[in-house]
Formats: sequence, C-alpha cells, structure tokens
Amino acid sequence: MRVSTQTASSLRASELESLELKFANRTANVGIVGLGYVGLPLALLFTDAGFPVTGFDVDAQKVAKLSRGESYIYRVPSSEIQLARMKQFSATVDYSNIADMNVVIICVPTPLNEQREPDLSYLINTAEAITPHLQAGQLIVLESTTYPGTTEEILVRILEKNARGLRAQRDGNPVESDNFYVVFSPEREDPSNNTIARRDIPKVVGGLSNHASQLAASLYQAIFRRIVPVSTPAVAEMTKLLENIYRCVNIALVNELKLLCLRMGIDIWEVIDAASTKPFGFQPFYPGPGLGGHCIPVDPFYLSWKAKQWDFQTRFIELAGEINVSMPYHIVSTISAALNRSHKPLNGSRVLILGVSYKRDVDDLRESPALTIIELLNQQGAIVSYNDPYFPLLLKGRHYDLQMERVPLDNIGEYDCVAIITDHSDYDYPAIVREAQLVVDTRNATRSIDSSKIVRC
Ligand SMILES: NC(=O)c1ccc[n+]([C@@H]2O[C@H](COP(=O)([O-])OP(=O)(O)OC[C@H]3O[C@@H](n4cnc5c(N)ncnc54)[C@H](O)[C@@H]3O)[C@@H](O)[C@H]2O)c1
Repeated sequence: MRVSTQTASSLRASELESLELKFANRTANVGIVGLGYVGLPLALLFTDAGFPVTGFDVDAQKVAKLSRGESYIYRVPSSEIQLARMKQFSATVDYSNIADMNVVIICVPTPLNEQREPDLSYLINTAEAITPHLQAGQLIVLESTTYPGTTEEILVRILEKNARGLRAQRDGNPVESDNFYVVFSPEREDPSNNTIARRDIPKVVGGLSNHASQLAASLYQAIFRRIVPVSTPAVAEMTKLLENIYRCVNIALVNELKLLCLRMGIDIWEVIDAASTKPFGFQPFYPGPGLGGHCIPVDPFYLSWKAKQWDFQTRFIELAGEINVSMPYHIVSTISAALNRSHKPLNGSRVLILGVSYKRDVDDLRESPALTIIELLNQQGAIVSYNDPYFPLLLKGRHYDLQMERVPLDNIGEYDCVAIITDHSDYDYPAIVREAQLVVDTRNATRSIDSSKIVRC
C-alpha cells in the first residue's frame, strides 16, 4: 500500500526514530546471517553491546555447537560463546526468525568458482531465503566483500521480488510504508592483528538512501567508534576492493623486487627495514610464498571480472595476480636447488613444511600458498610432511586434494629439508635451525640466526 507524501514523511520520522531509539537503547533485534570468521565475532560484539542477537547459518553443525556453548573458530574461545548465551545470543538454521529482526547483517562467503570468477551463489541463496520473511522497516546490511553494484543489482533485486511487494527505500523517492532499508558496509578486520581493537577500525557505510545510511550509522556506532558514511553502496563496495587490491599490488611489487634482490645478492628484508624509516610516502609490505586468505587473492578478481562488463582491463590487478601466483613455484624451485647443493634430488627427498595456514597465528587455510607448495612438491616426487599448531589434519578442500596428518616436531633432523612457509610465533626457530639439515625460510623467520644451513627466499 502506498501512502501520501505528507503521511509518509511523518511515518518516516516515527519509523526511523523508533528504530534509532531501539539502536540507542540496545533493544533492536539483530540478526547475523553467516556465522563464520566475520559473522560470529560480529554477533558477539553486538551481544556484548547489549543487543538481543540471533545468528543464522545453513551449517546445522555450527549452530548445534553454538547452542552447546562451543566455538569452532580458534580465536573465539568457547567461554565467549557461553557468556554470550547467558546474555541474549542464540543461533538457528530457521530463516522464519528473520521476520522478528529489526536488522539483518549478511556475512556469507563470496569466493571464486573454478574459472576464478565471482561465485555469488551464497549471497543469492541467502537473499532468496530472507525474502519470504522480509518486513517493512527492516534494515538489511551486506558485509560480504564483492564487486561494485552487487548490493543493488543482486541483493535488492532478489529482495524486491518478494510476493508482498516490499521495496527498498531510495533517495529521490518518497518514503513508503512498504519500504525496507539497504546498506553495504564492508568488513575490514585483519585476523591475528592485535595492535588495533575491532571497535577502533572505522566503519564505512554506503546506503541506498540517506535514511538507510543514517540508520546503519546509528546501529554501528554502538560498537564502532567512527562511522564513515559514503554516498552509495557501490562506493562502499569499491572502497573495500581498493583496500585489498592496494595490498595485493604492493605485495606483488615486493615479491618481484625480492626475486631481483635474490639474483643481485641484496637482502630485500634489510632494504625494506631501511625504506621503512622514511617518515612519509612509504608503507612496508613483505615478500612471502604467495598470497592466501579469503580476501587478498580473491577480491581483485571480483573487480577485474566486473570491469570486463565495462570493456575495461584491470592490467595492474592481472599483473599483480600473475606475480603472486608464481611465488609458490619459486619456493619449490628454491627447495629443489637447495637440496641439489647437498647432492640430493627433490624426487625422494623428505621435506617438512612448517606452517600451512595462510598467515601467521591464524586457523585459516583458505587459498593458502602452503597447499599449492605441498601439491607441487608431491608432483615432483618429494615425500612431504607438515606441522602446524592450528591444523591436526589436512583434508580435501575446494581447490586442492590433500589428505595428510600433522607430524610432531620431535625428529626434525630426519628431514632433508625444513621449509618455513608460515612463521607462526609458537615455533622455536633457533631450535629448528639447530636440529635441521637444511632450512628454506620464506618469511625471514630466522632473521636473527646466522647459519649456513639457512636458505632465505
Ligand atoms: N575472514 C576475514 O578475515 C574477512 C575479512 C574481511 C571480509 N571478509 C568477507 O566476509 C565474508 C564472509 O567471510 P568469512 O571469512 O566469515 O566466511 P566463512 O566461510 O568463515 O563464514 C561464512 C558462513 O556463512 C555460512 N553460510 C553460507 N551460506 C549461507 C546461507 N545461505 N545462509 C546462512 N549462512 C550461510 C557458512 O556456513 C559459514 O558459517 C566474505 O565475503 C569475505 O570476503 C572476510
């Protein structure tokens, strides 16, 4: 039902005010869809701030664990789940509860498919599951990283297909009684970075209308110190991609310079340390065995895919991708050359991989270069073992086919080569170098150790 502009503006005022009041006094029902690395901590933040929070996930095992007060994410202790459950946190697989929410925040995966193109199936499934339960006056926020245009072209389009004719509120249109509000607000967390508290990371919000942005700002200010409103969802979507592409391109640059420095006999790490003393215009990035994680290796492809629709080639992104993707091959050649110096062929040599997660001190294997390195070593006949404090087992995944069990670190001397792929802080590097026959260090974890056994690459 449409209402007159005058009635609508008073309706808008009362509706928005009542929702903002609920945000201010923490009585708004907050629904978080997708309880993974992003969604679960976010649900706990809102619970901690005093909101009643319902988590939604399609994974019944995760929901059952949460209902028992158990965590499945290393950096979220079970005690936090138990505490949250004593407050007002619950989890469910039942989407009909969406109808009772004032806010629905979507944090589902946005990976690449086999052709390395955006796979928006999780978002599409979520939107389709929400649609039958959508209510007028609800605020819907998308936090999953994606290409500019997704919120409007995919999410809003599906939500507006609902049978009851609800419409997203847009600038330039009068507020209607059948409106809901839509915002894109990127998640900017840096897993395992303990130097900045989550609430100190400014929160970008880009609404489909000013009212939507204003609502999202009032909601998020309950848990973030600074809100950064931008004019549209597409600006917010592009902001997140710029941040991640900036990292991807700079990591590629430093990886390329590392390869040159190795050839020239210059220590790239020393160069970066020296350059970092410049008080302006330089931010250090560090070389490594390749890119990993759900974001940096994936997100740039979201933009390059979208750019093609605009007849535009994102050449920087493609080049950076090429260099970063080649790094695991470089590491395997270095291991092979290092073994060769001891008259050992890679074929048949025992290689111990230290650290398989994509970065230090996280329990996240997604896109980890360690997995590619293990596969390449296997293909060349090496006998590969691994150790990682976060992963007792490696099982078949979306992009790799491994089945391995973690080995203990008590017989390091028996391996022909120990390759440090992820520099977890739990490892005792001096002891590892002491016992190993040969160490290939891809992270400069052994920087303070002087030993002819170490090959840095
Ligand atoms: N992990 C990070 O550090 C990080 C940082 C910034 C942004 N992001 C972005 O946030 C989004 C989520 O990433 P994540 O790391 O939390 O992913 P994740 O895989 O850890 O969690 C996603 C959760 O969504 C659930 N899910 C899938 N389909 C669903 C559906 N239809 N309905 C309900 N739940 C569903 C899954 O079961 C899973 O629990 C991605 O777009 C990612 O790019 C992640």
